[in-house]
Amino acid sequence: MPLTKNTKVVKLNDGNEIPVIGLGTFRSGPNEVYQAVLDGIKAGVRHIDTAYAYGNEEEIGTALTQAFKEGLVKREELFITTKMWGVDYADPESAIKLSLKKLQLDYVDLYMIHWPVALTKKFDAAGNVVNVSYLPNGKRDLDHSNNFVKTWTYFQDLVAKGLTKSIGVSNFTIAKLTELLAAPTTKIVPCVNQIEAHLYLLQPELLAFCKSKGIHVEAHTPLGGADAAELLKNPVIVELAKKYQASSAQILISWALWRGTIVLPKSVKAERIHDNLFTVELSNEDGEKINAIGKNAQKRFVNPDWSPFIVFDDDEKHGVVGASGWKNPNPTTVSN
Ligand SMILES: NC(=O)c1ccc[n+]([C@@H]2O[C@H](COP(=O)([O-])OP(=O)(O)OC[C@H]3O[C@@H](n4cnc5c(N)ncnc54)[C@H](OP(=O)(O)O)[C@@H]3O)[C@@H](O)[C@H]2O)c1
Repeated sequence: MPLTKNTKVVKLNDGNEIPVIGLGTFRSGPNEVYQAVLDGIKAGVRHIDTAYAYGNEEEIGTALTQAFKEGLVKREELFITTKMWGVDYADPESAIKLSLKKLQLDYVDLYMIHWPVALTKKFDAAGNVVNVSYLPNGKRDLDHSNNFVKTWTYFQDLVAKGLTKSIGVSNFTIAKLTELLAAPTTKIVPCVNQIEAHLYLLQPELLAFCKSKGIHVEAHTPLGGADAAELLKNPVIVELAKKYQASSAQILISWALWRGTIVLPKSVKAERIHDNLFTVELSNEDGEKINAIGKNAQKRFVNPDWSPFIVFDDDEKHGVVGASGWKNPNPTTVSN
């Protein structure tokens, strides 16, 4: 059961292939994400996950350009994902073109609807788009004239226009996917649903639903995000780490793969980025042992307040405790 470098890919429902481990970049800040991407590519990372709202596409683009210049990797060997933020529901084509400009790319491999809820687009005094505007009552200013069914029709055109190879969604529940798939305008089934999925948030029903529709699940926040220590210190994980001569993070990543998800660990530290690519084949018994922990611990780390829109419409039914593990330091410029 040795640790081996995991370079596996899986085929999406549109025929494109995606590496099963991707480098997450949420909260990978200025002056660190450039190096993280280069270190990652040198270590063998071939899949990078970003989003317009992370505010780091430009720095990632500079790193990618440098990697191509140094001959570390060819464009076609990389799988790059970015996501459309809520203020762009009415015009994803302009949004993806802006992301491509920042990333210095002609196309991305995967473009996603970041959240199933539209936000009102407003500008600050300098004319810059405000990522999240707030109403006087402190709630996010939602755009009720747009919705994900309509926006998906524009997304389908982005593939035909060559701006992205694949299209997907993120933070979609069974109810939202059902609504999207049932719409007569939906011609392309999303190839991926990127959701929070980890030791404390198993979401087995959502995983089974996605599988039944040919939608791959990408596990975001696989280590527990900013609160990673909480998951990494779990006694069962620590025990299995000893057994497999791996780190706790490697066990969590290996388990995410064992249960059939694509996994997106984030790090800005070269050694961790390297190590997070090395996984073990968990026995079914050990995989189930980890599942058993999750059955009793339903906890969501990424849960911004979108009210009155309810994003996680089945959390109450599943008894999920939801608290955002991350407080936005500057809500007008960055969001999750
Ligand atoms: N679609 C969405 O709405 C959404 C939401 C959240 C996340 N995501 C995606 O999913 C990715 C992963 O989620 P995340 O960034 O929130 O958190 P995560 O990957 O679960 O955890 C990241 C944390 O774990 C630490 N870490 C990484 N490798 C480690 C290791 N080997 N040992 C110990 N600690 C380690 C990192 O610190 P260092 O960086 O200091 O190593 C960081 O504090 C994101 O980056 C993003 O791409 C998407």
